[in-house]
Amino acid sequence: MPTKVIIGLQWGDEGKGKVVDNLVHEWADVCVRYQGGPNAGHTIYNEQGQKFVTHALPSGVLKKSCKNIITKGCVINPATLHEEIKEFNVTKKFLAISESSPLILPHHIVLDQLKYQEKIGTTAKGIGPAYADYISRDNKTMHDLCHSLQYVKNYAYEQLKKISDVTSQSRFKSVFENFLNKNGFKTDLESSNYIENFMNNQYFPLLDELATFYTEYLSNTDSLLQSYYRDNLNIILEGAQGWGLDVWGRSYPNVTSSSPNIGGVLTYTGLNHRQIDEVIGIVKIYKSKVGSGEFKTEWEESVDVQTLRQNLGEYGATTGRPRRLGWLDLDEIKSACETNGVDTIVITRMDSAVDLPALKVLHNNSLREYQKWNQIEAENDLNQIEIQQFVSSFKVLTGINDVSLSYGKKRNQLKWF
Ligand code: IMP
Repeated sequence: MPTKVIIGLQWGDEGKGKVVDNLVHEWADVCVRYQGGPNAGHTIYNEQGQKFVTHALPSGVLKKSCKNIITKGCVINPATLHEEIKEFNVTKKFLAISESSPLILPHHIVLDQLKYQEKIGTTAKGIGPAYADYISRDNKTMHDLCHSLQYVKNYAYEQLKKISDVTSQSRFKSVFENFLNKNGFKTDLESSNYIENFMNNQYFPLLDELATFYTEYLSNTDSLLQSYYRDNLNIILEGAQGWGLDVWGRSYPNVTSSSPNIGGVLTYTGLNHRQIDEVIGIVKIYKSKVGSGEFKTEWEESVDVQTLRQNLGEYGATTGRPRRLGWLDLDEIKSACETNGVDTIVITRMDSAVDLPALKVLHNNSLREYQKWNQIEAENDLNQIEIQQFVSSFKVLTGINDVSLSYGKKRNQLKWF
């Protein structure tokens, strides 16, 4: 089976990176990030327990021989992706970036902070505004960056200026200052031409450098992926975020601006539905969410959420924000399985069940409680009767009979059944 899609069936942060990394090392030749951007944070631990976090790069960068693709469905901040490529030392032989990927430019990040960070609880990385500009057919692409640079520069300047003109100066300056600080830029904000100065002295020279840098990474990734498929290579399609955050999902507007679901895979990769061989859904044993919006199973005050969050390490990999926590919601998982045609589920953080105050799941709108199991230290510990009972019930309630278990941070702590 040459193509497997990995989709988070909750609200992101299910542990997709760990599962993808395991499959990359055991099976894959190619790893494809199909949507999202630097809003994602895939945390991966190798066999020695060393920690890596990827944001815009596919998780396949940790295996030296794996070919990685960033498709046109991903929005790209050329400056931060450049840093990530250098950090992981990924050469053009092992990374192809779609020439059609929309850009994230400074005005997208500023607008995200001005308008959406508070309202939606976004990661403030410019994701929504960059996709919005693309959909309204205004945005520029990686191809433009490398081949029509002046056009990108004019656009970046004009858009930032436009936002500044319609925002109170004190508000704009404070958000812009934050953007400068977070991105390692410096400009005298007291100068009357500070936007021009920033562009001419800091941002444009960086774009000059990046336009040259990216030229050799760009390609038509639809065609490239089709050629890998024809060559029968093993391909992993890796989503960011999850089912609950799909822009076309029922939680709109508290969503991200792309489609982690299966429809997104087809639109963003250029593969057709017959070329998807297996859909693997990832489910964490409890539920977490960052950002605003309804959360039916959220832990109530009586649970010491703060201590649990600390013990579970539930802080955003990208923003460091504390995640909201609650019980596993099987009603949502069922919908997510239907939407995505899920074949297999991997339940992650099985080892964390011992830390939870109880083990409850929502089914048909009411909570059921299961017996907790003991510490899982080795694969054999998965044979505990409580785990078997839980997994059997999970299979019945979700209708998915193929369930595997992840029980630790390290790459090999995953038992495929
Ligand atoms: P944006 O993707 O930054 O526009 O944020 C939109 C919503 O998606 C917010 O609620 C974010 O907290 C959430 N979000 C974005 N990326 C992730 C992720 O990787 N994990 C979990 N939530 C995310």
